[in-house]
Amino acid sequence: MKTIVKKVNDIIHDKEAIDEAGEILKSGGLVAFPTETVYGLGADALNEEAAAKIYEAKGRPSDNPLIIHIAKLEDLAKIVTEIPEKAEALASAFWPGPLTLILNKASCVPYGTTGGLETVAVRMPDWEIARAVIEAGGGYIAAPSANTSGKPSPTNAARVLEDMTGKIEMIVDGGEVSIGLESTIVDLTVEPPQILRPGAITKSMLRNTIGEIIDGGKEIGTQSGPKAPGMKYKHYAPRGQLVIIKGEPRAVAEKINELAREKRAQGFTVGVLATTESAYLYPDEQVRIIGTRQDDASIAKGLYESLRSFDDMGVDYIYSEAFAEKGMGKAIMNRLVKAAGHAIINLTKEDK
Ligand code: TXA
Ligand code: MG
Repeated sequence: MKTIVKKVNDIIHDKEAIDEAGEILKSGGLVAFPTETVYGLGADALNEEAAAKIYEAKGRPSDNPLIIHIAKLEDLAKIVTEIPEKAEALASAFWPGPLTLILNKASCVPYGTTGGLETVAVRMPDWEIARAVIEAGGGYIAAPSANTSGKPSPTNAARVLEDMTGKIEMIVDGGEVSIGLESTIVDLTVEPPQILRPGAITKSMLRNTIGEIIDGGKEIGTQSGPKAPGMKYKHYAPRGQLVIIKGEPRAVAEKINELAREKRAQGFTVGVLATTESAYLYPDEQVRIIGTRQDDASIAKGLYESLRSFDDMGVDYIYSEAFAEKGMGKAIMNRLVKAAGHAIINLTKEDK
């Protein structure tokens, strides 16, 4: 299959490309498109065969459910059994935007889209180009991140092309995404609601809108596995082994430099993930600046591309500083820890 790439700058001048994407989606094909969070790999969510192609292209386990993307609030009613008050409140506060809601699915939603679940994940993305593609494709587009399963999510079209060439019909190239980490997922089928995946819409923002909300996973005492099925697989990971070092900045830098020296002496190549503030502390290493500590959003935006660029360099070991787990930092650490396969060295006193 030939994968066509079409640059879309705006939905009026590039209407032809959007219509083409819509036709492919309506006929059961796959189209990758940009959203504000990461690039999505779209298929008609209400067509089980089309959704099945997503799993094949990504190499994704078929029990890992997909998010259905909609373009208009009134389209929500068709795919869920009911819209609870809290869903209405969250949708009106944060849609269009980086928030996914889990609700009970209506019968028109195939199990092939929900991974066999009775619930469905729904999101209305903020980007106009995304909504135009969704609309053109029939209004209900299943879209996981457009990466090969397990790899960091793509934040630009070149990374989608790297993973999906020959596997999908079309890529809509809308440039770099603005957020860089996947949406916050909130399960509204339980009381109190649970955050299944942290993202740019933070816990305090959610609490301000609907009151009590808890973090999913850990708090569900009896639950054997994590609640968002996708969270149990190896995720967001570069090819090199990533290790996170937590602690006071100078101690962290000292430790990273020491580990890097050891690995280099053994013949491995090493990369360091640092910030504008700390890059100078690693004079001998291949340093990649993800962003600045003054602005969590810059770190979120740079994370996946940094991990992928270490892959380009063929780096064997990647050492990363840790980030404070508050606000957006929670989502950053959630992805970083998964990418590291939980390899963390903690230098802080209380944890020694
Ligand atoms: O920002 C995003 O959400 C991006 C863009 C493209 O919109 N999409 C995305 O999709 O991150 P994906 O497939 O990479 O992640 C979807 C997550 C998985 O962890 C999956 O298990 C969870 O959502 N999920 C989907 N449906 C669910 C359901 N019914 N119940 C619980 N978790 C669900
Ligand atoms: Mg993903």
